[in-house]
Formats: sequence, structure tokens, C-alpha cells
Amino acid sequence: MWKPDRKSNQPLYQQIADDLEQRISYGEFPPGSLLPSERKLADQLGVNRSTVVLAYAELRSLGIIESRSGSGTRVSRTKWGATPKHTPNWHRYAEGGNFLPNLPFLRRIRVALEQDPSIIDFASGELAGDLAPIDEINAIMNEKQNTSYWGYDNPQGYMPLRQALVSFLKEYRGIHTTESSILITSGSQQSLYLITQCLLSPGDAVAIEDPSYSYSLPMFQSAGLRLFRLPVDERGVQPEDIRSLFKKHKIKMMFINPNFQNPTGTLLAEERRKKLLDVASELGLPIVEDDPFSLTAYKGTPPSPLKSSDAIGSVLYIGSFSKIAASGLRVGWMVAPHSVVERLADARQQMDFGLSVVPQKVAATFLESPFFDPHMDRLRSTLLYKRDLIIEVIQKEMPDLVEYHIPDGGLHLWCKIVPEVNDTKLLDAAIQRGVIFVPGSVYGSDSSYVRLTFARARTEDIHTGISRFAEALRSTLEIEN
Ligand SMILES: Cc1ncc(COP(=O)(O)O)c(C=O)c1O
Repeated sequence: MWKPDRKSNQPLYQQIADDLEQRISYGEFPPGSLLPSERKLADQLGVNRSTVVLAYAELRSLGIIESRSGSGTRVSRTKWGATPKHTPNWHRYAEGGNFLPNLPFLRRIRVALEQDPSIIDFASGELAGDLAPIDEINAIMNEKQNTSYWGYDNPQGYMPLRQALVSFLKEYRGIHTTESSILITSGSQQSLYLITQCLLSPGDAVAIEDPSYSYSLPMFQSAGLRLFRLPVDERGVQPEDIRSLFKKHKIKMMFINPNFQNPTGTLLAEERRKKLLDVASELGLPIVEDDPFSLTAYKGTPPSPLKSSDAIGSVLYIGSFSKIAASGLRVGWMVAPHSVVERLADARQQMDFGLSVVPQKVAATFLESPFFDPHMDRLRSTLLYKRDLIIEVIQKEMPDLVEYHIPDGGLHLWCKIVPEVNDTKLLDAAIQRGVIFVPGSVYGSDSSYVRLTFARARTEDIHTGISRFAEALRSTLEIEN
């Protein structure tokens, strides 16, 4: 977001007035629309409220905006909307469509992170700079490109990346597939979106883990799906639960994140994997295996995906570069039967003509480069270091207030707050102290859980972040009791 330049010779209020005038003239704030309150804008821009009062006074004197007591400050209709021209009611349009807005907690987190970049971030589910292969990717991007044509590519994905993935999936994930069974997507998120939009219909019942990353996605509700819960214990979901849900609700598909699950970090137990595949094949039930974390296993051989034992083709396998390399590349993939890949690639052609070739080239080169293995070794050992560090500090700062299961892979620590706590108040108290996390209710749990992501914060900030969190928790518990 734009911020006034404190080094400029122009007064801050004048810069703010000029910026607002420009945004109004571009139609960002149409005639009659409500502008942010003085306090809110001051918070957003990091200035005193009196500076915004002056900026608004300047715009009022020019007739650009109008203030009426009790109804806030609005863009003037007389100046900008001289009748008989009518501006469309963009508010009403913005509320239309089938896509539901994000969950309020997630919007609150996004705004807090935008407003204060120095906040210690235990909320974003991604890698910090010390875990991502920044130098390696920069080196690949700086290589001279000898591409002679930059036209539309195959919406199914750039062929050299699909070829690189065939070898990668065989070598690292034990999955045997072909280029024609792979669809490249804009992260795993788009795979989930395509599945909910193209393979399911409104009213269909689907089973998801409880808690689950899927609960944080209104995309399931936007697609009109009915969600049913499969409780996750410390060994994952119980295969028999899917059988009873199937009978009761005619479940059409099951979504599962079996390896270092988001948010709990659990690993689906070996005997349950086998049983789950047996139950799915008996019922003819498709399983969507969302597997962004398995290669982060801190020690030993990473767990095998369900897909590697899927002899009859029940599993749609989703992978991504986000949690092992760089989420900003937006490179993900799906391995699926050819008919599914064709259907989804056709949808991609209608939606966006496929992912940009540029990140696909980077991903293909990185996967086949000598950088990949050393990067993965460093990623695993640094994640382990950060996991141990966060646990050590939690033990020091709030040993009797939280319980957790220690994950063997992934980016998150799922914590139960032992005394009951109001998560809205806890999040506010944490943000005030300069630290942020995701309340467990976002993932369908009750409010006594929180997800602390240790991968995103800088190693040197983990101690301070947990101290701040502990302080926020104590103050929330004191207020409540
Ligand atoms: C389980 C799971 N699936 C999918 C995603 C989406 O990731 P991306 O679209 O960046 O690959 C995430 C992101 O946090 C996740 O945790």
C-alpha cells in the first residue's frame, strides 16, 4: 500500500490529499462512496490522525469530498458525478458473484501484516528467506534465455516441466506417471479450485479432515459443496470413519493431507494408509491427496504418498513448489487420470490459457539442477532447527499454558491453549504486541487451538515472537478471569 514519503519536501498531509485526489479521479473511490475514517486512514498510512484531518480539510475546501456529521466523509457527487451521469453501484457488484469472501480472521491477518511489516509472523504458511533457494533461483533467472517464441503454451503445462516432474515424482515420491497425466497449476490452491469447480457439482457431499486447511478456504462453500468431517487424531484420520460418512451422506470425494498435515503436523499411520486405499477402492471413492509437505521430513526417508500405492487410480495427487522452494513462483501440479487432466486443462484454457511459461521454466531448471538436493538438505535441517528452537522457547516462556504434538516435518506447530481462551481477544492482544498467528477456528477447531508457523519468521525473531505471544496470552487470560 502507498505510504507518504517522510523525506519529501512536500508536507505529509499534502501528499495524502494528492494521492486521494488521484485515486478518486481514477474511479477507485466513485462519487458518493465512503472514504475511510480519519483514524483508520491514519493507522493505514502510519501518520497522526491530525495529518489526515488536514488532508481531508484540503480536499473539502476544493469541493472534492464532503463530510456530514454521523455519516462520515464521502466523495462529492456534485464535483465528480454531475448529473445525469450515473456511476454503477460498485458496492453491489462487489458483493455479487459466487465467490465468498475470505474468513474474517484471515482478512484481519492480511491487513495486520500489510500495515506492520515488522510484525513477527507466525501466521503465513510459507518459507522465510533463510529457507528458500533465493540465490539458486536468482541464478537461474539471470541465465541468458535462448527462447525464440513467447506465445500461448499448452494449458496443461510447459512440456519440459512436465518431463522434469515425471523424473522428480519417480525419484523422490515413488510415483510412476507420464507427462500426459500431469497438469501444471498455479499452486496446489488452483488444483483444489479446479477439482471443486469442474469435477463436483453444487450439493455434492465431500469429506475433509477435521481440523483441516480446507476449512480456511471458503472455496468449498462457494462451489456449493456440503462438507463432512473426518476427525484427525495423532495418527491421522480413521479409515472406518469414511465408510460410515459415505453411507450416511453419499460422499462424492475425500480430501486428505496425509503427510505433516496442515495444521496439526500429523502423519497418517502406515496401516491406516493401506486401509484407507482399500476402503476407497471398495466404495469407488476418489481421494484427493494434497501433499505439499512430505519432502520436508526433517530426518530419514520422507513418507511415501498414497498415490505411490494407488494401483487402481483412485487418487488425484496434488503437489507444489510452495513449501519446498518458493510460494511466489506459483508452480503446482496434479497427477490424475488422463480424462481428468484433459477436462481440467480445457477449463484452464477458458480461465487463463494456463500458467505463465516463465515460472514453469524456472521450476523445471531448478528441479533438474545440481542445486536441488543440497537445497532440500539445507531446508530440512533448518526447519528442524527452527522447530526445536520454537519448542525450546515455548518451554521457557509458557510451559503450563500450551500443549502440542511435536511434528517430524512441515512448517507448523499446532498448539492447544490449556486454559480456555477467546481467540479474537488473543489475536488482538498479539497484534498489539507485534506478533501474529492463526487461530485454530480458521481450520474448523474450537477456539482453544492456535497454529504457530515457525518456518516464516526469521530464526533470530523466534524468541522475541514467542515472548510476545506468551505476554499476549497471559494478558488475555487475566482479562477473561
Ligand atoms: C495443505 C495445503 N494445501 C494447499 C495449499 C496451497 O498452497 P499453494 O497454492 O501455494 O501450493 C496450502 C498452503 O498453505 C496447504 O497448506
